[in-house]
Amino acid sequence: MVTLLRVERLRVSVGGREVLRGLDLMIRNQEVHVLFGPNGSGKSTLLATIMGLPRYKVKEGRVLLLGRDITKLKPFERAKLGIAMAFQNPPRVNVKLGYILERLVKKYDDGILNELNALGIAHLLKRNLHHGFSGGEIKRVEILLTLLQRPRVALLDEPDSGVDVDSLNIIGKVINKLVDEGASILLVTHMGHILRYIEHVDLAHVLIDGRIVYTGEPKEVLNIVLKKGYSFFKDASRRREVYAEIEGSPKGKS
Ligand SMILES: Nc1ncnc2c1ncn2[C@@H]1O[C@H](COP(=O)(O)OP(=O)(O)OP(=O)(O)O)[C@@H](O)[C@H]1O
Ligand SMILES: [Mg+2]
Repeated sequence: MVTLLRVERLRVSVGGREVLRGLDLMIRNQEVHVLFGPNGSGKSTLLATIMGLPRYKVKEGRVLLLGRDITKLKPFERAKLGIAMAFQNPPRVNVKLGYILERLVKKYDDGILNELNALGIAHLLKRNLHHGFSGGEIKRVEILLTLLQRPRVALLDEPDSGVDVDSLNIIGKVINKLVDEGASILLVTHMGHILRYIEHVDLAHVLIDGRIVYTGEPKEVLNIVLKKGYSFFKDASRRREVYAEIEGSPKGKS
């Protein structure tokens, strides 16, 4: 079975500090993986490194997409191969949202109207991207821009933080649509709110101090995180390496 995205023994420095310290991850077609971890543990760094943002320096290890080593590719080259990212804190851009959407729609999609209406962002079209957008508006716009790229792998950094319940529902629908259309998802969440709205989640990982220390069934992991906090995972005896297990498990997807 072909693995869509594979991260191998990744060591990454940001601003001269090693943030990821030997991280492995494997995602297959149409799988949804969730990433939990305390603040500053390296979740956004992992997503940014998979996207290839230049500030994140790979010191060791590789990122593979469908078996191809993409570690040295630029972000736009990775975007062309089908990787898209919804930022936790996206930069403000001096281009109107309406113009960006128009370009994306021309390139990738012609059925945008439903999504635009559902996401309730029509009033933002004439404004520069993320200039003065509210927290929830930023999340809804990021998810829409990601969807419109029709990605193979969507990296969603806290799509549910600071988002009201109605928007959560809509963002959940967009994520389900992405998966239905064939995408795989790697998503970061703190409280797991979005998980209630996603039809199927395959695996959850816990990232602490730049390493994945636990991988398991999403509901089980969320329960531990919410009830016991991250100290539970800091006990080395509880750490679980399950890659061999996952590799061998029947999934019925290719
Ligand atoms: N440009 C930078 N220069 C220096 N340190 C950085 C830089 N970017 C990130 N870091 C540091 O790297 C560490 C990991 O940051 P990262 O954003 O990946 O954490 P996170 O797990 O996403 O946390 P959160 O849950 O708060 O979003 C943090 O200590 C952060 O301060
Ligand atoms: Mg983050």
